[in-house]
Amino acid sequence: MLDQYAVIGNPISHSQSPHIHALFAQQTGQSLQYSALLAPLDSFPITVFDFINKGGRGANVTLPFKLQAHQLATRLTERASCAQAVNTLTFENNEIIGDNTDGIGLVHDITRNLTVNLASKRILLIGAGGASRGVILPLLQQKPLSLTITNRTFDKAEALQQQFQSYGNIHARSLDHFIDQSFDVVINATSASLQNTFPDIPVNIFAVDALAYDMMYSKEPTAFLKFAQQSGVNHLSDGIGMLVEQAAESFYIWRNVRPETKPVIALLKSQ
Ligand code: ATR
Repeated sequence: MLDQYAVIGNPISHSQSPHIHALFAQQTGQSLQYSALLAPLDSFPITVFDFINKGGRGANVTLPFKLQAHQLATRLTERASCAQAVNTLTFENNEIIGDNTDGIGLVHDITRNLTVNLASKRILLIGAGGASRGVILPLLQQKPLSLTITNRTFDKAEALQQQFQSYGNIHARSLDHFIDQSFDVVINATSASLQNTFPDIPVNIFAVDALAYDMMYSKEPTAFLKFAQQSGVNHLSDGIGMLVEQAAESFYIWRNVRPETKPVIALLKSQ
């Protein structure tokens, strides 16, 4: 039997993960099977244990189960512990190891695919929900000059500053604080794009040659990316590359082989 992997979520039929991992397996010559598993909303642990009993070696976890996966893990990596969310489970020696590859996926997309070095840069991270929390540690590990975090509800940004201040130069600022400040990299980690809107930010937050990055992706440019473009930003990216890079990191954790991500990103963009 082939080694079994899966992505577990609810809903799950829209997930690109089976397609991405099949491309990785084909490209690297790894023999494995990767499927999509729909877990009932009240039965995530049962779905995981059932999959382990059927020979599952690892699983990706998507909405709305990342927090439950964090609780289910018997061991956590530091980045998963900081994120308080798990998107990658490995089943090994009667242990359930929880990791979070979202943040390193973002960092690899920015530094390798978009060739923007984050060291010594001024980064603005907009949003203070789960998506934001998941990327802060890997961003700080790039040693930016500063990581500023802002959010519509300021208290949540402040809480993240407190949680992460021992890891690097992180500040929480309210949205009305940016009248005369600009940033080299501006990352939208809010879910506003899902409502086809964007956070209330001034045009001056984009420095000359800034990168505007939306962690969401859609067929059309997101409202945030349209705003950035209208503000004069030329370097724009949505989160398709991050999606593929977080998958590649999971694949590496399970198989100890790094797939080439660029052809997979190009293929997904063309589809
Ligand atoms: P996720 O797991 O995707 O981060 P979440 O934890 O619900 O989801 O967080 C959503 C984030 O998007 C929050 O930072 C939220 O701001 P609030 O904390 O003020 O709610 C932000 N957000 C959602 N819609 C927004 C909008 N229209 N404008 C600005 N921020 C928005």
